[in-house]
Amino acid sequence: MTSQTTAPAIAPDDARPGAPVSPELHQERRIRSFHPRKGRMSTAQHDALARSWDRYGIRVDGKRQLDLDEWFGRANARVVLEIGFGMGDATATMAAAEPERCVLAVDVHTPGHGNLLRRIESDALDNVRLAEGDAVVLLRDQLAPESLEGLRIFFPDPWPKARHHKRRLIQPEFVSLAASRLRPGATVHCATDWEPYAEQMLEVLGGSADLANLHADFAPRPEWRPVTKFERQGLAKGHVVRDVLFRRV
Ligand SMILES: C[S@@+](CC[C@H](N)C(=O)[O-])C[C@H]1O[C@@H](n2cnc3c(N)ncnc32)[C@H](O)[C@@H]1O
Repeated sequence: MTSQTTAPAIAPDDARPGAPVSPELHQERRIRSFHPRKGRMSTAQHDALARSWDRYGIRVDGKRQLDLDEWFGRANARVVLEIGFGMGDATATMAAAEPERCVLAVDVHTPGHGNLLRRIESDALDNVRLAEGDAVVLLRDQLAPESLEGLRIFFPDPWPKARHHKRRLIQPEFVSLAASRLRPGATVHCATDWEPYAEQMLEVLGGSADLANLHADFAPRPEWRPVTKFERQGLAKGHVVRDVLFRRV
């Protein structure tokens, strides 16, 4: 199954992963949850980007709101946003298992976009779209209120040093923004292998009047969540993995 839809019209030259972003976005004074890094891309990932980026991907430019129904080619598209998909193998596996849902996967890490596009092609996935850039800008400037039916954040950078805690993605301001983009009943699912961050997730999500915990404490690990690359690394170090599952009220 392949999609007949194309990404919303933007000049392809501006849209390539790795191209400079607009100066306004660079000038924003905001603490970011990521380190800009390029990483090396394999030939297969590079080729998949060249073949399929214009069809499935957009760069986060903060300029225009996305029409998700048009982009996914579905009426009332049920869209889950996955922030920080890394190499995207878990994303592709979850999307293949749930063809009725659409996955918008965003990351700043370019080789992952090539790898996920490779999986979209090889697995003939028509329910995945990619964004390259900062998820905060995507949520704030390009996604409409109540446009998402789910948010997944699996193994966000834990920023373990105290002086870096402010870089953690799951903070009250971020949660308030994210909740505003979720439909009532939508789920927020986070996982981490860093215990203090797991506690912070419970505390911050639990402190939002827009969200309700679906469990008394941490959630049991759902069987459908594939083990991700970072999860595997955490498990190899003996870390305990925690899932956190909330619902938009
Ligand atoms: C530790 S990795 C986890 C990747 C993957 N989920 C896994 O479990 O293997 C965190 C990812 O989040 C991405 N990231 C961090 N902050 C982000 C943001 N504000 N917007 C988009 N991606 C972000 C990083 O680039 C990185 O790829």
